[in-house]
Amino acid sequence: MSLIWLVLIPVIIFILFLIGTLFIFFSIPSRRDFHFFRRHAVVTGGSKGIGFQLAAGLIEKGCNVTIVARNVKDLQKACEELQLLADQRGQHQKVQWKSLDMTGDYDVIKAAFDESANELGPIDILINNAGHSVQAPFTELPISDFEKQMKVNYLSAVYATRAVVDDMKKRKTGHISFVSSAAGQFGIFGYTAYSPTKFALRGFADTLHMELLPYKVNVGVLYPPNTDTEGFKVELETMPEETKLMSDSAGLFTPKYVADAHLKDIADGNYATTIGLDGWMLGCLTAGACPEKSLGRALIQSAFAGLFRAITLVYLGYFNGITKKCYRRRLQEKEEEKNSENGRKEE
Ligand SMILES: NC(=O)c1ccc[n+]([C@@H]2O[C@H](COP(=O)([O-])OP(=O)(O)OC[C@H]3O[C@@H](n4cnc5c(N)ncnc54)[C@H](OP(=O)(O)O)[C@@H]3O)[C@@H](O)[C@H]2O)c1
Repeated sequence: MSLIWLVLIPVIIFILFLIGTLFIFFSIPSRRDFHFFRRHAVVTGGSKGIGFQLAAGLIEKGCNVTIVARNVKDLQKACEELQLLADQRGQHQKVQWKSLDMTGDYDVIKAAFDESANELGPIDILINNAGHSVQAPFTELPISDFEKQMKVNYLSAVYATRAVVDDMKKRKTGHISFVSSAAGQFGIFGYTAYSPTKFALRGFADTLHMELLPYKVNVGVLYPPNTDTEGFKVELETMPEETKLMSDSAGLFTPKYVADAHLKDIADGNYATTIGLDGWMLGCLTAGACPEKSLGRALIQSAFAGLFRAITLVYLGYFNGITKKCYRRRLQEKEEEKNSENGRKEE
């Protein structure tokens, strides 16, 4: 190759990179910082776990907060702790709770949200966090579990969003978050009822983001990995062996770490929040046609999508191996049991 080409090829690549960057820059929506001070935030599932830490973080940022859940005792306890935190800040912030089944009647939910807005001011931030997970192989899950999980993980977010969005559009301000899951990016053994509900949230959020752009209402999605909460501890009790082995590789995060990461993304006007290195890689890989407001993130997603696809295929191969290994072992155990039963009969 002549010297001229050795110089020209990198120059052409650099120019193409610059043109591509400019196209992306002018295509992505502009990022708007979000200010929390004196805003009213509603957190569904705010009495425990990730929701509680999100509520605590919102108080640290100067918000008045309404937490929503069903169990009154848990709500009262959480509200007391949150009010203490608010009082320590000396900014006259208020915390209140509403006992509400987010899978219930829409009119009841709407009335409770309106009441909350009358008490603490118009709702500026909604965090759709209430959720629940039951895992088992598909044929072992009752059909009712599919219906219940769709209601609590997906429809509850639709109801809450519908209850607040008109007012946000009118006031041309607001933020709505959806707490999905790493299982909303990656289908894993045992999650046939749970995963689709979390994928559905992402589809809803992607669509809503586009509709709300002209109204300056931000939308965000949080994809938590395994997080050390009461809910996760309950999950572990019934988690199939395969699911446990697969999810062990993802590590365990504290709810505060997860909540803080999401609140930072809300403040910076980012769309997706991923947690940890695996989460970040999965986020880049599954970004697909989802909204992106950060030029840096957009460039990384564009540059590394192919490599991350290859790495994910290796993970998938490992997970498929676990599924087959567990299947073979169970088959062998059954056979050994049958043989020993036959042996006993012959005796
Ligand atoms: N922890 C994890 O490893 C993990 C990983 C990925 C995604 N997530 C997601 O993150 C969110 C929070 O999880 P978490 O582990 O913090 O859960 P958690 O500790 O079990 O807390 C769940 C919260 O949701 C409330 N809730 C449940 N069903 C409700 C309903 N029908 N109506 C109103 N409130 C309801 C609960 O209160 P009541 O029971 O009193 O109603 C509680 O406040 C969920 O959406 C979950 O799917 C969690």
